[in-house]
Amino acid sequence: MNTQILEATAKLMVADGKGLLAIDESTGTCNKRFAKWQIPQTAEAHRQYRELIVNTPGLHESISGAILYDETIRQKKDDGAPFARALAAIGIIPGIKVDLGAKEMASFPGEKVTEGLDGLRARLTEYLEMGARFAKWRAVFAIGDGIPSHGCIEANAHALARYAGLCQEAGLVPVVEPEVLMEGDHTLEVCSEVTERVLRTVFRELYSQRVKLEGMILKPNMVLPGLTCPRQNTVEEVADATVGCLLRSVPAAVPGVVFLSGGQSGELASVRLNAMNVRYKSRLLWELSFSFGRAIQEPALEIWHGEQANVIPAQEAIYHRAKCDRAAHLGKYDGAVEADHRESATHDMATNAYAGSAK
Ligand code: 13P
Repeated sequence: MNTQILEATAKLMVADGKGLLAIDESTGTCNKRFAKWQIPQTAEAHRQYRELIVNTPGLHESISGAILYDETIRQKKDDGAPFARALAAIGIIPGIKVDLGAKEMASFPGEKVTEGLDGLRARLTEYLEMGARFAKWRAVFAIGDGIPSHGCIEANAHALARYAGLCQEAGLVPVVEPEVLMEGDHTLEVCSEVTERVLRTVFRELYSQRVKLEGMILKPNMVLPGLTCPRQNTVEEVADATVGCLLRSVPAAVPGVVFLSGGQSGELASVRLNAMNVRYKSRLLWELSFSFGRAIQEPALEIWHGEQANVIPAQEAIYHRAKCDRAAHLGKYDGAVEADHRESATHDMATNAYAGSAK
């Protein structure tokens, strides 16, 4: 294990206000999102959509790394370049989702455990050869009557730590993603208590599996009230609850914490991340950034609709959300950044295209 390379890569993933872009939806999830907009659910349509995203001019200004799915890392862009190589060529670190999904947990009704450890060592070696430099594994925790249970938290935390150890052995930075889900009518306080319990267990397991905290990234949920909770908290309350929970449970050796968006709108995700960075700037022990999927992609997918004619406006939407999220990481997001949309994105993209052609 070359710890220096792992540490340097992990730092780079959260440097300069940048964050990660998750485009690693499994085939089932991607098809579900395509079906909503009547887009064909084929491997070729997935490829075209991921190519649209990766080709967004200026994407590297806000995005340090992109998480691919197994199908995509084996595909090529129209120009013949494999996706991982194409990302590296534009200064974006390629990553790969390596878990095999959250499955019903035996004897734990309503709870899931993430699978994928069997054969993982060999798969990681293959992904490294394909150009991946970091990996992702997601565990999910639902909040409900008596759940998440101790057994579910322990099993998932142990799997996350085993995965992280194997990644570091292979030379890949593990992105450790324990996600407490938003579904339910629970309060912000309950989400905070559950998230803290999950994170404390995850870091205990990471320690016992000898994972180097300096060479990993944590990808947690924000602390939020359940989607159907009658009391929806203010941005400031969410920022305080989330950062407080992290300060109590995430060791200072971890270089970066990157949030998943979990179904929040793009704008709300930016507003909340910004508030955390503004209110806690001097107290944060790690970079507080983003690793959004839906919060960056959703407007673009709706615009694209599977039509070639919509590629440029869809790319403008991706560029804009990524730019807002970088501003939020820097604590510089506001209404003006949000409003500075189409024209400036078009202008910035034209400038980038010019800079590209001038090289
Ligand atoms: P969302 O931001 O859409 O939650 O996706 C992030 C992710 O990678 C989930 O595993």
